[in-house]
Amino acid sequence: MPENEARLQALREQVETRLKTILPADTGLTEAMRYSLLAGGKRLRPILALEFCRICGGEPERALDAACGLEMLHTYSLIHDDLPCMDNDDLRRGKPTNHKVFGEWQALLAGDALQAEAFRAVLSCSGLPDRARAEAAAVLAEAAGIAGICGGQYLDLAGEGRILPEAEIRKMYAGKTGALFRAACQMGCCAASAPAEKLAAAGAYGSALGLSFQLQDDLLDLDSTEEELGKPIGSDERNEKSTLVACLGREAAEALLLSSSREAEEILEREFRGDPFLIWLTRSLTKRTS
Ligand code: IPE
Ligand code: IPE
Ligand code: MG
Ligand code: MG
Ligand code: MG
Repeated sequence: MPENEARLQALREQVETRLKTILPADTGLTEAMRYSLLAGGKRLRPILALEFCRICGGEPERALDAACGLEMLHTYSLIHDDLPCMDNDDLRRGKPTNHKVFGEWQALLAGDALQAEAFRAVLSCSGLPDRARAEAAAVLAEAAGIAGICGGQYLDLAGEGRILPEAEIRKMYAGKTGALFRAACQMGCCAASAPAEKLAAAGAYGSALGLSFQLQDDLLDLDSTEEELGKPIGSDERNEKSTLVACLGREAAEALLLSSSREAEEILEREFRGDPFLIWLTRSLTKRTS
């Protein structure tokens, strides 16, 4: 396996291993939480946190629980995103969605509890100094709330059946997707006690990556297969979502995907000594198929 892929795999395994023990064993509510949390997934957000910790001179192993908090929060957002009152999807990470297996009330509570436990994981990350934990938790709260996932999901759902202007869709993407990528990179900086300029640069990188990531997600919703993607195809069309692909047309959306990824790469070159692994990861995400 080429070096970068092997490294990505090792990081993924590090995260997987910790996620397996971060929640109590399967009883009642934790069974529904673990079902989605341990169903696979690319684990990109925790990996970005660990990597930004490393490139800022910190010790990533010390930030592992905080990084896992990002994955717990992300998983909550997916469980709720799939609910009948939101995107009403039946497949996630190659398995039936949480509410299909456990019913709606358990899926709702599993999501709620994962969100709370995410903050616990960050705040009790014993490898980090108190200040780093508090800063990382504040960054995560910003990404989860009004200016982040919830605000973005609000725009996404409120916009169903309408044609939103480009600026509004960008705002939606920045909230529902960009915010957590941004937070992941910044939490890595917090864990390394990096200076404010690095946090700002990491945030700009995460935001640019998030935009290109959501554009790819929208294209895969049109072009991929359920088997490859592990989630339904055509969900956006069925829900009459306002996407940038629908708004700009495919060609312009693809160009924006690449220019946004290139912008992310330039930040790495300028601010993070052109870290070769992260540059490779950024590029490879523009070609992802799942
Ligand atoms: C899916 O995120 C939701 C979006 C923000 C588009 P991922 O594509 O990272 O999902 P997993 O974690 O790999 O399942
Ligand atoms: C992702 O948007 C936003 C989340 C916060 C989960 P989508 O609704 O496009 O994500 P998928 O395609 O269901 O993963
Ligand atoms: Mg959605
Ligand atoms: Mg969805
Ligand atoms: Mg999607």
